[in-house]
Amino acid sequence: MKALKERLASDATVIEASLRQIFAGLPPRGDIYPAMEYSLLAGGKRLRPILTLECCRLCGGDVEAALPLACAVEMVHTYSLIHDDLPAMDNDDLRRGKPTNHKVFGETTAILAGDGLLTAAFGVIAGAFALSESQRLAAIQALSAAAGPRGMVGGQMLDMDGEDRALSRSELEELQSLKTGALIGCATHLGCIAAGADEKTRQAVEGYAQRLGLAFQVRDDILDVTSTTEELGKPIGSDAEQGKTTFVTLLGLEECQRWVEKLSCEACACLEGLAGAELLQELAQTLASREN
Ligand code: IPE
Ligand code: IPE
Ligand code: MG
Ligand code: MG
Ligand code: MG
Repeated sequence: MKALKERLASDATVIEASLRQIFAGLPPRGDIYPAMEYSLLAGGKRLRPILTLECCRLCGGDVEAALPLACAVEMVHTYSLIHDDLPAMDNDDLRRGKPTNHKVFGETTAILAGDGLLTAAFGVIAGAFALSESQRLAAIQALSAAAGPRGMVGGQMLDMDGEDRALSRSELEELQSLKTGALIGCATHLGCIAAGADEKTRQAVEGYAQRLGLAFQVRDDILDVTSTTEELGKPIGSDAEQGKTTFVTLLGLEECQRWVEKLSCEACACLEGLAGAELLQELAQTLASREN
């Protein structure tokens, strides 16, 4: 447990430093850079970039070389949060313990800050010169698929369409796998790409990520009901307010938590037999009872 905490903290430190460099020293252009950095450097758990680095390490790759890919996935994630909080979407006022981007900079700048982070993310991958051209191309392809209409954007569309309509469990699972699962899966895949992982390991990691991503969203739905705004750093009760079907509305809190624990165990089992997988396994177990 101590080793896990220390490793996560050290990964997060490297990621923060790297994110801080991306827009440093650029000539000012209205509020665009301050708005992008306001959300990008606001903290957050950094789960996705940590997964990229740790999957790269698991597959025997050079973690330093994977760092731009880790930053890119966090940039896309942060953009998705800025847009997710907009009045036209979930209409939330707090994110990562701070007023949401549009509350500080206004809707126009928040939309552009999201656009800026999304497009810059692909530039960061293209400039990851410690990786080969084919690795960079594979990473761009993976992130494009996971972030776009075949992934997160598609899931957000289904999420918005589902407001005020009861979704079935299978509809919700499909929505989740796109909305949250795709980017989490991509984060792990990027680590495999950076390490040049073999097919067998890549598939094991994919199985892990798929279960981890689902458990992560089920726990997110639980916390929206049971947590506090202070603990979560974002408003609780947002799903109910927007009339969303969630795993909690479908299954109830207790069954959801049992499911999270089962999925986390299954995620760990996917990595069984892989040397050095203990940290990712412990991470999955810890996330099952995360409080923020
Ligand atoms: C929030 O993601 C959105 C979901 C997919 C549930 P995180 O819980 O990873 O948010 P941060 O990055 O820590 O702020
Ligand atoms: C959003 O899911 C996932 C994204 C793609 C941004 P939620 O709307 O449940 O995320 P939170 O609860 O606002 O963080
Ligand atoms: Mg949402
Ligand atoms: Mg939301
Ligand atoms: Mg949520």
